[in-house]
Amino acid sequence: MIHNYPNVPEKHKELVELAKSMTNQSYAPYSKFNVGAAVLLSDGTIVTGSNQENAAYGECVCAERVALLYAAANHPDKKPVALAVAACSDGKFTENCVTPCGSCRQVLLEMEKRFDDKITIVMYGSTQVLTADSAKDLLPLEFTDTQIKSV
Ligand code: THU
Repeated sequence: MIHNYPNVPEKHKELVELAKSMTNQSYAPYSKFNVGAAVLLSDGTIVTGSNQENAAYGECVCAERVALLYAAANHPDKKPVALAVAACSDGKFTENCVTPCGSCRQVLLEMEKRFDDKITIVMYGSTQVLTADSAKDLLPLEFTDTQIKSV
């Protein structure tokens, strides 16, 4: 389910503030769209990321994947329970919330499968905050390993 809250829910405030502050560490000289993400792990650890661009545009990596894959590489036994994402350009946070791209949705989905639990996704905008209860809410008809096995 996707919730449209007027403000950031209390329990996700810290995560969203970290995502917002991570926009300052983004490397986005091409798009000038600075994105930050923060991932809360099952034991309370929070890992963060920001988008990292490349002159070969195809090598740009989103903030969400930087944070999620850092978490997977450094805390492989800890389940990600929530992810927050925020973005700004020209020093201003987007009014509408920023939503993960398709590749990030697929990576979120894999994390849900791996740990057999949902990940809450908090998408921040200065006038709109959407919260999805699961990556599945963002990616219908997802590609999963069951399809590989059915070939
Ligand atoms: N980007 C993210 O980091 N996360 C999103 O959810 C949307 C897009 C980045 C990729 C690229 O560096 C820039 O934003 C413009 O697309």
